[in-house]
Amino acid sequence: MRIEKAKEMGFCFGVRRALELVEKAAREHGSVETLGPLVHNQQIIDILAQLGIRAVESLDELQGSIVVIPSHGLRPQMIEEIQARGLRILDTTCPIVRKAQIAAKELAQAGFWVIVFGDKGHPEVNGVLGWAEGRGVATLDNEVVKEFDLPPQVGILSQTTQSYTGFAQFLTGFVAASLSQVKELRIVNTICDATRKRQGAALELAGRVDSMIVIGGRNSANTQCLAEACAFTGVKTYHIEQAEEINKDMISGRSCIGITAGASTPDEIIQEVLLKLEALNAEIWNLPQHQRTEGSAY
Ligand code: F3S
Repeated sequence: MRIEKAKEMGFCFGVRRALELVEKAAREHGSVETLGPLVHNQQIIDILAQLGIRAVESLDELQGSIVVIPSHGLRPQMIEEIQARGLRILDTTCPIVRKAQIAAKELAQAGFWVIVFGDKGHPEVNGVLGWAEGRGVATLDNEVVKEFDLPPQVGILSQTTQSYTGFAQFLTGFVAASLSQVKELRIVNTICDATRKRQGAALELAGRVDSMIVIGGRNSANTQCLAEACAFTGVKTYHIEQAEEINKDMISGRSCIGITAGASTPDEIIQEVLLKLEALNAEIWNLPQHQRTEGSAY
């Protein structure tokens, strides 16, 4: 069995940057608190906790004086509340998310009603909507938009981790359904390039392997999109968080397995998955130790 890694996978620059910033702050100040998880990967959150970086769910849980804004950003109203409490802020909002926040703010200030193509339960989307100053809605389904009495000016942007295909389909459906009401439509493409490259590489690989293993947090939007995109090609796809979740059934009878990982998946976990796959493959074929890695593409 061959194991092949996608050409682009794993940590993106936004996640690396956020981790470097909080680790530096924890070294300097002993401990810091993040408002919500810094990134959507439980293994990283556990490692950060050991370094004194604690995730809290609400302002009332804060115990220290330094608050970290996570990589997916916050609503401006929440930032004002932190400032009003006299706390220090360490902002690790990814620059790409920041661009989406600014786009939402500028659209709202120019009189546009803002639609965010995204998961309304996701913190990034919630934050971006906050920057639209109450003049917007988030949805993945353009049928939902029909429930609203649309104003003449509408601006649409996307959650940074959505797929181009999904965004394009949404826009097509929206235009078909709403042109009788909307007089001016502005589309801001806020999909992140790191996401686009990971999706492209995963799709390319999914097209020529027997099954795909997608590694990353179950609550990670970009990992979910990767898994959905791979499954959409028809290839058997497994979304796992850790190496322990792999079993022989996932690989037996396959001649080539593709691997990809979300933007918040640490290199160590990817490596553990690769080692587990090698070990299981060797067990299945009962190969002697010296032949176990033969044929693997990484
Ligand atoms: Fe930022 Fe894109 Fe990563 S939005 S956090 S660079 S997936």
